[in-house]
Amino acid sequence: MSRSAHPAGPRHADVLPEGHYSAPAADLNALDEKVWSRTVTRDADGALTVGGIAVARLAEEFGTPAYFLDESDFRARCRAWADAFGPDADVFYAGKAFLSRAVVRWLTEEGLNLDVCSGGELTTALDAGMPAERIAFHGNNKTVAEIERAVTAGVGRIVLDSFQEIVRVAHIAQRHGVRQRVQIRVTVGVEAHTHEFIATAHEDQKFGIALADGQAAEAVRRALSLDGLDLIGVHSHIGSQIFDMAGFEVSARRVVQLLAEIRDEHGVELPEIDLGGGLGIAYTSDDDPREPHEIAKALSDIVTRECEAAKLRTPRISVEPGRAIVGPTAFTLYEVGTIKPLEGLRTYVSVDGGMSDNIRTALYDAEYSVALVSRTSDAEPMLVRVVGKHCESGDIVVKDAFLPADLAPGDLIAVPATGAYCRSMASNYNHALRPPVVAVRDGEARVIVRRETEEDLLRLDVG
Ligand code: LLP
Repeated sequence: MSRSAHPAGPRHADVLPEGHYSAPAADLNALDEKVWSRTVTRDADGALTVGGIAVARLAEEFGTPAYFLDESDFRARCRAWADAFGPDADVFYAGKAFLSRAVVRWLTEEGLNLDVCSGGELTTALDAGMPAERIAFHGNNKTVAEIERAVTAGVGRIVLDSFQEIVRVAHIAQRHGVRQRVQIRVTVGVEAHTHEFIATAHEDQKFGIALADGQAAEAVRRALSLDGLDLIGVHSHIGSQIFDMAGFEVSARRVVQLLAEIRDEHGVELPEIDLGGGLGIAYTSDDDPREPHEIAKALSDIVTRECEAAKLRTPRISVEPGRAIVGPTAFTLYEVGTIKPLEGLRTYVSVDGGMSDNIRTALYDAEYSVALVSRTSDAEPMLVRVVGKHCESGDIVVKDAFLPADLAPGDLIAVPATGAYCRSMASNYNHALRPPVVAVRDGEARVIVRRETEEDLLRLDVG
């Protein structure tokens, strides 16, 4: 993770501590388009605007902290993924990254499918009108009630994650007189190059059924033998925030080998494979994510090649990007509170949110960028750590970054690329009120998830 350290910032060159940071950008006012959503720009006064609206107006109307989601960017990314994979493949947006009813409507309109992994996500999807047959239901410990709901709603597929679940889903489907379309999630044994907590295809973890020791083949045997199940394919998800396509290639190869073994043993060619999500995005200027068309080509080339070698019909491919669609489309807007310069170390900049609206830095040592957005500044760069207002020293939003040295309380700063896994993992720690999500498009802003209120907190606390 370590990046080149020790930039020669004009002011602090002699006092910069060791850290994981790059040199300050030549112009701190410049907005790197890699990390900001597509309609973000600065207006003539230097204020950041999104969807044509300046942040000062957004802060005044919706308060801070708040997430601002660039709707046209979200829709464009959906279309880019759908176009890249084409009509012979399916793109399932992974709702765990961020889900709301508005998002479900956008997905439905843009022709995407949806991956849900809990009863709550399923309810949101169905309530907002996602056709059940376009929903995939995931999870390593689905409850009987969740499975019942999924089966009776008619979800397009349930991804089976354990031997118990194979039997459980078969029974429930039979009881309802249906044959449930299912896939089996296999662990292909790939070590994804990402944080341990978001890598999922090595064998020593809770997801899926291992390929290596023949467990996956046994799961297929059982699924094929049960009347309530229509086994349509095999699923693999290797982890998250991955840039290197090599892991996906190994995964695709092993999944296709399993299809060939299934054909040899049972005489059936399963028609689908799902290669999961996990494609990385740019959180800082150092990250270089792949475009959807490159990813689609790499995956379809490898699957086609492997299938030709195994003399298999090429299965229909599906993928489940979450972060790569929603991550880059939102930023979190904060107001600067206290500022504490620690001589020879760095300046601590406290904001009005923190680990309750972005747990990723504390949990995964995630890196983020930050910019002063209510104005521009020609002041020299100062090394900062952006921290929240929680009672925890690990309450860090941006570990190491540069902001102008004239930063003052009341300034607005924004952290880009917070669309994925920030609101969806937000908490009420210290009885914080979870921030709203505001969709911005063509000069209009509307709340799609409202800010929590103290009343909401008291309503749950039934005394
Ligand atoms: N499909 C399956 C089966 C998954 O488990 C996941 C993510 C995805 C698709 C979507 O992955 P994506 O394209 O968004 O990387 N909270 C962590 C990420 C956990 C991801 C869990 N599963 C984070 O903040 O980085």
